[in-house]
Amino acid sequence: MVRASTFVFALATASTALGQAQTCDLNNKCPQSTPCCSQYGQCGVGAYCLGGCDPRSSFSLNSCTPAPVCESKTYTFENLDSVAPNNKYLGDASKADWVSSGNPVHYGSDVLLTMAPSTVGTLLASTSYMWYGNVQAKFKTSRGQGVVTAFILLSDVKDEIDYEFVGADLEVAQSNYYFQGIPVYVNGANTTISDTFQNYHTYEIDWTPDTITWLVDGVVARTKKRSDTWNATSNQWAYPQTPARVQLSLWPAGLSSNGQGTVDWAGGLVDWNSADIKNNGYYYASFTSVTVNCFNATSAPGTNTGVSYTYNGYSGTNDTVVDGKNATVLASFLATGLDMELGASSGTASGAQPSSTAETIPGQSGGSPANINSHGDTGSSDSSGSGGSSTVTGFVQGATGTSKSGADKLGQEKVVKGSLFAVIVAVAAMMAM
Ligand SMILES: *[C@@H]1O[C@H](CO)[C@@H](O)[C@H](O)[C@H]1NC(C)=O
Ligand SMILES: *[C@@H]1O[C@H](CO)[C@@H](O)[C@H](O)[C@H]1NC(C)=O
Ligand SMILES: *[C@@H]1O[C@H](CO)[C@@H](O)[C@H](O)[C@H]1NC(C)=O
Ligand SMILES: *[C@@H]1O[C@H](CO)[C@@H](O)[C@H](O)[C@H]1NC(C)=O
Ligand SMILES: *[C@@H]1O[C@H](CO)[C@@H](O)[C@H](O)[C@H]1NC(C)=O
Repeated sequence: MVRASTFVFALATASTALGQAQTCDLNNKCPQSTPCCSQYGQCGVGAYCLGGCDPRSSFSLNSCTPAPVCESKTYTFENLDSVAPNNKYLGDASKADWVSSGNPVHYGSDVLLTMAPSTVGTLLASTSYMWYGNVQAKFKTSRGQGVVTAFILLSDVKDEIDYEFVGADLEVAQSNYYFQGIPVYVNGANTTISDTFQNYHTYEIDWTPDTITWLVDGVVARTKKRSDTWNATSNQWAYPQTPARVQLSLWPAGLSSNGQGTVDWAGGLVDWNSADIKNNGYYYASFTSVTVNCFNATSAPGTNTGVSYTYNGYSGTNDTVVDGKNATVLASFLATGLDMELGASSGTASGAQPSSTAETIPGQSGGSPANINSHGDTGSSDSSGSGGSSTVTGFVQGATGTSKSGADKLGQEKVVKGSLFAVIVAVAAMMAM
């Protein structure tokens, strides 16, 4: 299956009806006033500077908030106290283990990632990062054509290691990896296992500087060696090597507004009148636990002896990662890595002042992991960089003005492609202030 990483293009086409969020990429860095380039390729302050902020496309390497270092821990979901909505979290990983967008629901001792009609699903991203190490997640996937469950590692420079599950094919776990989000079409692989909707499985990624091993229920499914990833064109190892967050997600790949390659990969369009929708009101994937074991190297790469990870070079390779002492918490949603105290309730901050209209909460693509979801599409129709806070959701992927566009649902029938993103971000930003 041909797959492409179009996360930049996805939002590069988003015009902004209400907001002024500027797009950003490696050749088009953010301005000083809104210095942080979010995971979704738009400039802002506040939460734009937290997890997913790409230092290479931001105003400067220290515009993003330093990333909390790895913590070895087992995360369970007996309650959702450890889950903070993305319009509440300011970078203190001691106060929340996960940042959510969409609608996580507590059920038994699991968290359900839900996807109701007119939403783009749910995403949980870990607040601390892993610089190599072992991560295991025990869960049951969702089901149904067009419905994708994912368990991935994603770094701020878009190194990525994946498990993905297409709800039309419940006996396959797909594995994949990307280096710096560069679209390479040949790295996916499939592992056959028993029904992933009916059965809990434990999915494991064991990631070292030299090898990635994917295991299911303790059995090796696949191995990828760094030594097999040399790219003679770019003269480097096309191998994930930078600190990454764990992301758990459920998202609708099968929307008519998505590219045909994505829809085909996902097994067809989502059926919004399915039994799961009728019985529960949403599609769901059921996560029981996640266990992170840090790599614990004694020298770089792969340490976690400091407080936070930052980058000191634009190559985004492992030797530009610094495991240091910089603080990770912003004083407010107006603050940035350039002035982390801005907006603190007392005292006067100095430095770059964000304009009052600056975007503060990046549009979430629901479960869409990194928007590296354009499965073989060549165009930019997979504009999946949107969504909402925990209280604002809507169709945003490829709001191309078709009748299926969620824009209609929100009474914004005149918005052009992608502009719903701006509406939602603006609303979310207002609510956060
Ligand atoms: C880390 O903190 C130092 C000292 O405050 C600051 O000069 C530097 O810009 C920070 N680095 C990053 C990447 O945030
Ligand atoms: C994996 O299986 C899916 C169907 O579930 C198929 O579309 C895809 O091409 C397969 N990928 C590989 C690499 O065989
Ligand atoms: C770290 O990055 C350097 C520079 O790109 C490279 O030579 C080295 O092989 C990398 N090491 C690992 C473990 O990826
Ligand atoms: C090698 O790197 C170049 C430049 O980043 C990229 O365009 C190309 O797709 C890569 N090829 C492979 C096979 O990884
Ligand atoms: C890393 O250190 C932590 C804390 O001491 C420990 O819990 C964890 O098991 C270690 N991980 C590995 C892979 O050794």
